[in-house]
Amino acid sequence: MTQSGWHFLQIPGPTNVPDRVLRAMARPTIDHRGPEFAVLTLELIAGLRRVFKTTEPVVIYPGSGSGASEAAYVNTLSPGDRIIVFETGHFALQWRRIAERLGLRVDYVPGNWRGGASDSELELRLTADNGHEIKAVVVVHNETSTGVASRIPDLRKAIDRAKHPALLIVDAVSSLASFDYRHDEWGVDVTVCGSQKGLMVPPGLGFCAISKKARAAQKTAKLPRHYFDWDEMLTQNEKGFFPYTPATNLFYGLREALQMLEEEGLDNVFARHARHGEATRAAVRAWGLEIVCEDPREYSNSMTAVFMPDGHNADELRKVILDRFNMSLGVGLSKFAGKVFRIGHLGSFNDLMLAGTLAGVEMGMRLAGVPHREGGVMAALKSLSPVVEAAPVR
Ligand SMILES: Cc1ncc(COP(=O)(O)O)c(C=O)c1O
Repeated sequence: MTQSGWHFLQIPGPTNVPDRVLRAMARPTIDHRGPEFAVLTLELIAGLRRVFKTTEPVVIYPGSGSGASEAAYVNTLSPGDRIIVFETGHFALQWRRIAERLGLRVDYVPGNWRGGASDSELELRLTADNGHEIKAVVVVHNETSTGVASRIPDLRKAIDRAKHPALLIVDAVSSLASFDYRHDEWGVDVTVCGSQKGLMVPPGLGFCAISKKARAAQKTAKLPRHYFDWDEMLTQNEKGFFPYTPATNLFYGLREALQMLEEEGLDNVFARHARHGEATRAAVRAWGLEIVCEDPREYSNSMTAVFMPDGHNADELRKVILDRFNMSLGVGLSKFAGKVFRIGHLGSFNDLMLAGTLAGVEMGMRLAGVPHREGGVMAALKSLSPVVEAAPVR
């Protein structure tokens, strides 16, 4: 069926690409070994550094977040190295799978998919590792399958308390440019990201921000690498070039998106995401549904994962919402398939888009016969527009 009006892409990424970004990409592709391209690359790297909050190198791959994850491993580790991965959800599982395929040994710290990585557990494990066999700790900052945000500064402190030299590798795919992230200040060694979420660019780019310690680890890292090798990339990047053909038109889009983030100001971007996270959670509570994230200190501001009432399937609800209201919501991933739906509220987004999104969910639940209380949308509207002073009712 043809639907009029906009499609609501409310999955937790790829996110709605702003018209400005789309228009910026609609330009002729240029010579990626020419002077105009070099200027573009250097501008992008400088802009990305401001978003990652780092003065260290940021590399850009034509690829996606998963490619950048593989890059983080192959540049810093050797076959048989032991690493810790926290089981926070589907994306942590992906990190585990990639590691095992590469021949790394994974200590998978069990989790119930409703909480973040535990700093006390990390400290215990690292303190017990007297021989410093563990070479890296991997944490998904915002676990996109659950809407739980781990507290990276606390994990850094745990590593420091244990006086352990393991590298800290953080997946910021669905947190960067949505809520606070500080590569340098938090002592992260490799931060991994993709273009299609908070950065508001279509899918197709993967990023690694790389600390000095990670660069030093590369000197002894023996995992085979070619495409993802940082050495050649960083040498070429210095002059604004790449060892292979970069994704030129996505770069135009990224330049525009970085410009938009700077115009709004990163702190304002974070505050906007925080308001939208809070309003979404207000709606879910008013509906009487359960938020997957158990600890309010770990609520994600980029997306909210919601449990379906027992006996009701999330995919049936999502289908009704797609068919009737032309809106896509996130699926439940892995063990949450059918049990959870996810509302993306990140990227290029505003109050009325959120109101429309939540209205679509509430109407969908009515039509699909999902038990809930009315008033979720109203709770969100009140959260978005609190009464400043009570005026007397006449
Ligand atoms: C937290 C997280 N990590 C990794 C990935 C994988 O990234 P990509 O799909 O860009 O390869 C995703 C994708 O949604 C993600 O949300």
